[in-house]
Amino acid sequence: MRTTGRHRAIARLIATIGVVSLVAACSGNGGATGGGTAAGGYPDQNITFVVPFSAGGPTDTVTRMIAEPMAAKLGAKIVVQNVEGAGGTVGAGEVARAAPDGYTVLMHHIGMSTAPALYQNLGYRPLEDFEMVGLVTEVPMTVVARKDFAPATLQDLVTHVKANAGEVTLANAGIGAASHLCGLLFQTATGVKLQEVPYQGTGPALTDLVGGQVDFMCDQTTNTSGQISAGEVKAYAVTTPERVKSLPELPTTAEAGLPALQVSVWHGLYVPAGTPQDAVRKLSEALKTALADQGVVEQMAKLGTVPVPAEDATPQALRAKLEEQLGTWAKVIADAGVKAS
Ligand code: MLT
Repeated sequence: MRTTGRHRAIARLIATIGVVSLVAACSGNGGATGGGTAAGGYPDQNITFVVPFSAGGPTDTVTRMIAEPMAAKLGAKIVVQNVEGAGGTVGAGEVARAAPDGYTVLMHHIGMSTAPALYQNLGYRPLEDFEMVGLVTEVPMTVVARKDFAPATLQDLVTHVKANAGEVTLANAGIGAASHLCGLLFQTATGVKLQEVPYQGTGPALTDLVGGQVDFMCDQTTNTSGQISAGEVKAYAVTTPERVKSLPELPTTAEAGLPALQVSVWHGLYVPAGTPQDAVRKLSEALKTALADQGVVEQMAKLGTVPVPAEDATPQALRAKLEEQLGTWAKVIADAGVKAS
């Protein structure tokens, strides 16, 4: 039978009806256009979560982990969008300039507090251009290398980089990224300047590390745990005072002889400044629900981290953390004399 334009129109209509009911079904609100609340209430359309790094990396992994239970609680679909570049500042800038309507949300981490000290023309002010939604998790970092890299221990690595500073390559996700900050702390603690190889995220950087293209890097357990457990990378230490339960064999940097290398990657959700408080409150409530979700708790534990307690999944807790960290890293970065050109 020959399909006419009209047939195609009907087919499209049937398809459209299918999608809306799918979203409504997902959001369990019985057919309202994707919104969990009465018509016109927030949310009444899809919400975009912006991840300022590559897909498949640690920030992307944490975002996708909480997006599903948050979508169920909000009664709306959440679409994760990766907006890469410049250590996370491109994606953050995009959200700062987005409509303050609750439909564009930023997942960012410690990089929110290092960027102002690193970038002259950042294009946004972390405390003024965003509403805080809440803290999410604080992820330990690991020092890892390609598996055929000679140094066997962290001490051997320090000796090796001091002897071969010009040759050794250190991967990171761009100036202002957590991996960049940890690399900076490593170079400050050892007094060695290394060749840094920037990526759009530690997802692709880890792929190259496993492939032997770069020598070593510092990255979050939410990205490295699998490769460490599978023996695909060499792991030297974890950058927190305590060992990580899911990686019990891995010593802390203090145990491995580099106590100055201490950092963990706190994550938070943000919306553009001026976003209605009703939306901020509902996002924060949905975040709390997601962080209490057993599936999320188990996934995070497998990847070496834990959700923050409910009282920290709040705007006040995130603002307090950001204020404190802006001060902490401004001094460290100024002392290190590092600037993004
Ligand atoms: C990522 O998601 O790629 C990382 O968070 C990058 C980083 O900050 O090191």
